[in-house]
Amino acid sequence: MRVIATIDELVGERAGWAGAGTGAVGFVPTMGYLHAGHLSLAERARAENDMVVASIFVNPAQFGPNEDLASYPRDLARDLERLEAAGVDVVFTPTPEQMYPAGFSTYVVPEGTLNARLEAAVRPGHFRGVCTVVLKLFNLVRPARAYFGQKDAQQVAVLRRMVADLNVPVELRVLPTMREADGLAMSSRNSYLGPEDRAAATVLIRALRAGAAAFDANRDGPPDAALAAMRTVVADEPRATLDYADVCDPRTFAPLATLRSPALLAIAARVGPARLIDNVVLDESGDWNMGRVAGEN
Ligand code: PAJ
Repeated sequence: MRVIATIDELVGERAGWAGAGTGAVGFVPTMGYLHAGHLSLAERARAENDMVVASIFVNPAQFGPNEDLASYPRDLARDLERLEAAGVDVVFTPTPEQMYPAGFSTYVVPEGTLNARLEAAVRPGHFRGVCTVVLKLFNLVRPARAYFGQKDAQQVAVLRRMVADLNVPVELRVLPTMREADGLAMSSRNSYLGPEDRAAATVLIRALRAGAAAFDANRDGPPDAALAAMRTVVADEPRATLDYADVCDPRTFAPLATLRSPALLAIAARVGPARLIDNVVLDESGDWNMGRVAGEN
């Protein structure tokens, strides 16, 4: 596995692959502090491509001024071990100066409902930072396929839109949310939780399960019952504060007027020092995708 920290080196390495019979390149962008969710993306990329590139870059452009950029957890040595074990060929670990040199001034700014509701409303500028860094990474790595987690459902929807709108020649593959045994979605930010907050953090999946049950009991009805079910579970957890609970279209993020598929139940809450998000999806065929517990099939 090669670890590359500069753009010049990455471009040189990538140019060496073109036309050399190396075939398709799979790409897994991350911010590091890797867990089984990230590794599921790397393993899938390994299975489906000839070359696999992962990136580790805590992207300053996607953090708000009062967010956790400075305290975001990092452990490069452990991340590199895990990526090597997953069979990754190249890890790109640029510095902020590499990605945003002096004079940098061109950003990709998503608009419309997708950039107005939920995460976009709570975190202004967040998806501008995500789109900008992901498009830069796509241009450098030039992957045939790029791998993302359903955990960040709105990020997936925003990036699908960007790839379609800007004709970016990459196929996005979205893999299920990887969960701890008690249902908590894996997240680098779970490391902020002390034992009591960690126990309380299952409130997100508990709320989503209650929302999905209320959804099933009220198909074709208004979304109120599903929304109320989610809100009640969070209200009953003293350590949690709800940011939002929502029932929306998984592609456009427009709120649903009636409970029908496809649908996304999305939730964000603060638990102690951590802001956590989670979601479950009801696909076109009417099946709930609640994610997977790590280590189970
Ligand atoms: P990060 O939060 O490190 O996540 C990297 C990738 O791992 C994303 O596609 C995310 O959805 C996925 N992921 C995170 N938790 C997961 C889980 N529990 N199960 C499955 N997949 C999971 O998302 C980002 O970084 C950044 O915004 C990035 C796309 C790298 C741009 O900076």
